[in-house]
Amino acid sequence: MNTLIKNATIVTMDEDNKVIQNGYITIVDDKITYVGKSLPEDFLPRVIIDGKHKAVLPGLVNAHTHTPMVLLRSYADDLPLQEWLFDKIFPIEDQFTAEDVYWASMLAVMEMLKSGTTCFADMYFFMEEIAKVVSKTGIRANLSRGLQCFDTDFDPKQDRRLLENEQLFKDWDGEGNGRIKIALGPHSVYTCVPGYIEATVELAQRLGAGIHIHISETLKENQECLNKYGKTPIRHLYDLGVFNMHTIGAHCVHLSDEDMDILKENNVNVVYNPTSNLKLASGITPVKRMMDKGINIALGTDGASSNNNLNMFEEMHLAALISKGVEGEPTLIRAYDALKMATINGAKALGIDHEVGVIKPGMKADLAIVNLNKPHFYPMHNVMANLTYSAQAADIETVLVDGKILMEKGEFKTIDAEEVIYNIKKISERIF
Ligand code: NI
Repeated sequence: MNTLIKNATIVTMDEDNKVIQNGYITIVDDKITYVGKSLPEDFLPRVIIDGKHKAVLPGLVNAHTHTPMVLLRSYADDLPLQEWLFDKIFPIEDQFTAEDVYWASMLAVMEMLKSGTTCFADMYFFMEEIAKVVSKTGIRANLSRGLQCFDTDFDPKQDRRLLENEQLFKDWDGEGNGRIKIALGPHSVYTCVPGYIEATVELAQRLGAGIHIHISETLKENQECLNKYGKTPIRHLYDLGVFNMHTIGAHCVHLSDEDMDILKENNVNVVYNPTSNLKLASGITPVKRMMDKGINIALGTDGASSNNNLNMFEEMHLAALISKGVEGEPTLIRAYDALKMATINGAKALGIDHEVGVIKPGMKADLAIVNLNKPHFYPMHNVMANLTYSAQAADIETVLVDGKILMEKGEFKTIDAEEVIYNIKKISERIF
C-alpha cells in the first residue's frame, strides 16, 4: 500500500542531523521510499496524512522495560529496592496468569503507542503472550524470557526457563514480517549462578540470539559480586562470555573505568533508565564518561512499577537535565543527543539500526507524528529542543509501524481499548 505524508516538519535523525521543513515522505508497504522537499511525480498514494503543523520523527525505542508490570503501577511506591521487590512485587507477580500478562502487555502497548513508542525491549515471563500482543497490535519488539537460577546443580537440558526461552525463539523469532525478535534474558548476576549464565551464552550461540540483562543497577549488586567472585558484575559477565553475544545491558549505573573499557571494546549497548534509577534511588548513571568512551547509550522506562509510566518523552527530558545538573555542564547532553538516545541508539541497542531509528529511504516506516499546534511549542525556534524539553506524550497524534497506521489522531486501529480496560479492571479486582 502507498502512503504519503505531506507538508510535515521531518526530524530525520540521519547522520547530518537534518530537519526538513514542509517535507514529503512516501511509503510503499512497510518501507520508506522517499524523504525530501518535493513529491515524486509518479507516486500515487492510497492514504494521505497531512503533516501541516506536525513533526514526524522516527518512532521511539523503549530499550528496557517489563510491560506487564503496568498491573503494578502505583501499587507499591516510595520504598527501598529490597522491600519493594521482595515484599511487594514478587508475591503479587506469583499470582499472574498467562491471560493477565496478555492483557497487561496490551495495556502497555496502548500506553507506548499513545506516547510515540514504536518498539520496545521486554523481559518477563509468559512471553509467548506478549509475542501474541506484538503480533496482533503491529508494534515492534525484542522479547526475552526472564531467566534466573540460584541452584548450582541445575541441568540446562531440564531447566524450565531456558527451555521456554528456546521455544519462544523457535516459535516467534522473525515473526510478524520481522517485527518480533527473540533474545535470551538472564536477569542479572545476583539472580543467576555463573554456570547458568554460561549455559545461557551457549544457548544464545546455538540459536544466534542476543542477550538482554540487568547490569550494575545498585551498589549492593556490585558489592555482593565483588565479595562473591572478586570482580565487578561487568568483569564477571565478560569472563562468562556474555559479551561475545549482542548484548542489551540495562542500567550500568555503577561502573569503574575498566568496566567502561570492557563495555566499549565489546560493543555492549547500555540502556539508561533515568526515572527508574531516581525512583529506586539506585544512583546516577555516568552518562558523560560513557559518552566520552563512545559507548552506545539507549533509553528505557524500566517497568511501570518503578517509573510509573512508559513515557519516553519523560526519559529524554530527564536524561538531558540530570547530566547537565550533575556534571555542572549545560552543554553536555543536547536536545539532539537525547533524541538520538531514544531513536537510533535504541535501534542500535536492539540490533535493528539497519531497519529503524532514522527516517530515510530503505528504512522501515516506523514513525511518530507530533501535533505541534499547541501553546507549549510556539514560537517554533528549534523543533529538536521543543521535542526534548517541551513535548508531552499526549502531543503524539498518529503512529505508524512497518508502514501501517496503528494509531490515527489518537484512535487505535488494531486494539479494542474498551475491551483492554475492562479486562485490566477485572484482573486488578481479582488479584488485589
Ligand atoms: Ni528492569
